[in-house]
Amino acid sequence: MQVLIFDDKAAVANNAAELIKKLINTKPNANLGLATGSTPVDLYKQLIVKHKNKEVYFSQVSTFNLDEYYDIDENSINSYRYFMNEQLFNHIDIDPKNTFLPTCNRHQDPRQQGTMFEKKITELGGIDLQLLGIGGNGHIGFNEPSSSFASRTRIKSLAKQTIQDNSRLFTPQEPQPDMAMTMGIATIMEAKYVLLIATGKNKAQAIQEMVNGPLSASCPASILQMHQNAIIMVDNEAASLLDNKEYFTWVSQQNQEINDSYGYFPDL
Ligand code: PGA
Repeated sequence: MQVLIFDDKAAVANNAAELIKKLINTKPNANLGLATGSTPVDLYKQLIVKHKNKEVYFSQVSTFNLDEYYDIDENSINSYRYFMNEQLFNHIDIDPKNTFLPTCNRHQDPRQQGTMFEKKITELGGIDLQLLGIGGNGHIGFNEPSSSFASRTRIKSLAKQTIQDNSRLFTPQEPQPDMAMTMGIATIMEAKYVLLIATGKNKAQAIQEMVNGPLSASCPASILQMHQNAIIMVDNEAASLLDNKEYFTWVSQQNQEINDSYGYFPDL
């Protein structure tokens, strides 16, 4: 894991956006895995600015989102499709036909719908970089604690903590879904690169368990220790419980020199 520690959440967003820009400029038809939640909002704002400044174009890019609520109308303001359109897709030159979310409706077997999503990823040649947030409970996507490291895209019941964490996004009149379709952990691990971003004190424990803890289904994100190209960008608050902070800072300075000289994405 490359752990990059920044002063604040603005610096995390800027550096994550810069890395995604480099990825697309290295491979203009990249398959980009995307995430929803509060954490990536500033990163998407930065990507929009970079697009408006003509630094990056998305016309050949395809995107795959990590998850979507079960049986939700895509026009609902709570759907992740709506979120992605509002926060990113409507403001860049991406072809909406190339944006995929793991949708799941009640009229078809969810297992089949999961398989179709996996097939689409394979058909387009796999995900080049998967963006991830992390839940306070260590989840990635909606792979809640106890999810199998071998899991593929499937329907999941959300953990109580996740429902509570996300309740801020729903008004009392809106029913909050308690199930979602999510990319599996094995699906995420097949991405050539993963970029996990986390900010704020409420993520510090999950980050500590992910980076310093044992590999455990109790902290699904800990599997990223086994990924060959896992980049973790955190602010000082999210890094506050990490062991080896000075070491990570030292390593990241050296890595940056190598990346600047030889390119950031040797495996693309
Ligand atoms: P957040 O969610 O960015 O809203 O904190 C992250 C996640 O649950 O993966």
